[in-house]
Amino acid sequence: MFEHLKEKPADKILALAQAYREDPRETKIDLGVGVYRTPEGVTPIMRAIKVAEKRLWEVETTKAYTALAGDPAFLDAMIGLVLGDAVARDRVAAIATPGGTGAVRQAFELVKMATPDARIFVSDPTWPNHLSILAHMGMEVVSYRYFDAATCGVDFAGMMADLEGLRAGDVVLLHGCCHNPTGANLNLTEWRAVVERLNAAGALPMIDIAYQGFGDGLEEDAAAVRFVAANCPEVLIAASCSKNFGIYRERTGILMAVAQEAGLHKVTQGNLAYLNRQNYSFPPDHGARLVSMVLGDDDLRADWQAELEEVRLGMLKLREQLAGELQRLSGSDRFGFVAQHRGMFSRLGASPEQVARMREEHGIYMVGDSRINIAGLNAATVPVLARAMIAVGV
Ligand code: LMR
Repeated sequence: MFEHLKEKPADKILALAQAYREDPRETKIDLGVGVYRTPEGVTPIMRAIKVAEKRLWEVETTKAYTALAGDPAFLDAMIGLVLGDAVARDRVAAIATPGGTGAVRQAFELVKMATPDARIFVSDPTWPNHLSILAHMGMEVVSYRYFDAATCGVDFAGMMADLEGLRAGDVVLLHGCCHNPTGANLNLTEWRAVVERLNAAGALPMIDIAYQGFGDGLEEDAAAVRFVAANCPEVLIAASCSKNFGIYRERTGILMAVAQEAGLHKVTQGNLAYLNRQNYSFPPDHGARLVSMVLGDDDLRADWQAELEEVRLGMLKLREQLAGELQRLSGSDRFGFVAQHRGMFSRLGASPEQVARMREEHGIYMVGDSRINIAGLNAATVPVLARAMIAVGV
């Protein structure tokens, strides 16, 4: 049967990481995959996670299965982190998932089970794997305008015009903060208008939040999700712990399904647990347990928050440095968006040819749509990138 298999296109982000590894140049710069790195190029284990891991080793007495939905302490801690007190806890059905990607996949599965004909509206652009998973699942995708190539900000008028096409039962995938790949985000006034539009159409918001704490702060980055959860009858939220807890390989995420109608909670929770059982049975637990230990201990939580804040401020500083350098070299303000964008990424607005030239001539690796991982830079490489951008004519 294997002869019937066809070659699959490589994931663009992961293929880029491979190409970078194979490049022998010592001066190469990796601005590809969304993994945080210190100025020294290291992806550290966060201090609080290290302490929790040691503690866990001492107190954990069994590796028997947890609940099918995941450890309840993890679910409660994450619901608190993402939703605060925006909605009553008994309105939120939730499962632990293998990473944020697992949560995204399970959300699509739930949509497909509940409303097989639902269309999924996605921002143009969005994280490429959203599109890949949806295509793999055979779900209908409609893209809405999001990025204004001229300003490198949000094309809000275009987005709202495209959301006019919503029908009841459609699902609108939104990035809770730190939009991937652009770095351009909605403000709260715009979120309010989006919620009004979705509610008027009877469409369901699905929020992917993978970078809480990387934009304007832990609470600030959750504000939009909380607003949507409090103001829409139903919402799906896929959250990742990979980045803000730095536990990428532990595969730790959560899917939340918020229903304002209390009577729907039991059936929704049952369906989520069913989906875990069908797809992989029990979700991974190690990372989830570390997260609940960190969030449930005042000292560990304070230290985690402090370290996350250092990470966030470091990235903001790099943004400002890059914007300043580009202003100096270009003699114009047209790169001011770099300092306005938030999160790990910015789309620079370079053409695919310019991106290829930066890779070939300057050893700078970024995704083909000119998305850069800000955390791949440091004070010494910012001027190198700025000079390369100007040299290739961005
Ligand atoms: C990214 O967008 O680079 C990250 O979310 C990592 C990934 O899996 O693509």
